[in-house]
Amino acid sequence: MKVFYIGSLILCFTLFNYVCAKVCDGLESVRATDECYMRIALNFGLTHNPKAPFGTLIVDHATNEISCYGVNSNKINTLLHGETAAFWNCTELYPSPTNNDMLNPGLNWSIQTLYTTGEPCPMCASQAIYRGVHRVVWGSTVEDINYSGCPQLMMNMVDVLATSKLGANRPNPKAPILEGGILKDDCDRAFWCAFSSSRGKSYYEAMKKEGLEDFVKDRKARFSCDSEPKMHRYRI
Ligand SMILES: *[C@@H]1O[C@H](CO)[C@@H](O)[C@H](O)[C@H]1NC(C)=O
Ligand SMILES: *[C@@H]1O[C@H](CO)[C@@H](O)[C@H](O)[C@H]1NC(C)=O
Ligand SMILES: *[C@@H]1O[C@H](CO)[C@@H](O)[C@H](O)[C@H]1NC(C)=O
Ligand SMILES: [Zn+2]
Repeated sequence: MKVFYIGSLILCFTLFNYVCAKVCDGLESVRATDECYMRIALNFGLTHNPKAPFGTLIVDHATNEISCYGVNSNKINTLLHGETAAFWNCTELYPSPTNNDMLNPGLNWSIQTLYTTGEPCPMCASQAIYRGVHRVVWGSTVEDINYSGCPQLMMNMVDVLATSKLGANRPNPKAPILEGGILKDDCDRAFWCAFSSSRGKSYYEAMKKEGLEDFVKDRKARFSCDSEPKMHRYRI
């Protein structure tokens, strides 16, 4: 299976749409499939916005095909976080056939999984809930990203999701399944290195005040940012 997987990645260069769309198909477990898609999301983020490597894929997990892509596009529009960009990409690629995105969207959202390198912020988490994505998977947490020096709304997606109710406060039956920590080391490294220049004197003072010196020590010990991040041979 591994051989097939690596073979697909190489073929990906030449036959992008045909092979690449199914690049993570047929792996032995959900975990392996998640890691395969997360690798693509991370490479996408590192390739297109190395200073903010928030990369996102939305995948049809029934057919194992990538539906759309997103990367933090803050140069075009500050609000285009990776996940928001991916939702727009999906809506543009798959518009409602009847001009009614609410009742008849162009994608079957109940079979889509969203992969994103960093835990969705409340803005993007809300969109995943409104869209009715089946599952949301991420690498680094909101805390990991903030403690690396990047401003964050310090709320976890699980707490955003807890506020999602149908009328009369009934539970939302389409609440996405959440899973963090996929390819966490690689995502943590990417964010730690991307935000190096944000870590000045006031950052170190704040981390000390918050009792988070061990976090800094751990990151410095594990991640050297001198070399280019490890990219796999395929780039998208
Ligand atoms: C969707 O994303 C892909 C990958 O970045 C890009 O090539 C394509 O142009 C985008 N499509 C639209 C309609 O935004
Ligand atoms: C979406 O996919 C689910 C699961 O396969 C299926 O039950 C449902 O009918 C699909 N919805 C539409 C509108 O095709
Ligand atoms: C983020 O982390 C810094 C420490 O670097 C801390 O001072 C700050 O309060 C945190 N929170 C937000 C919302 O950025
Ligand atoms: Zn966001």
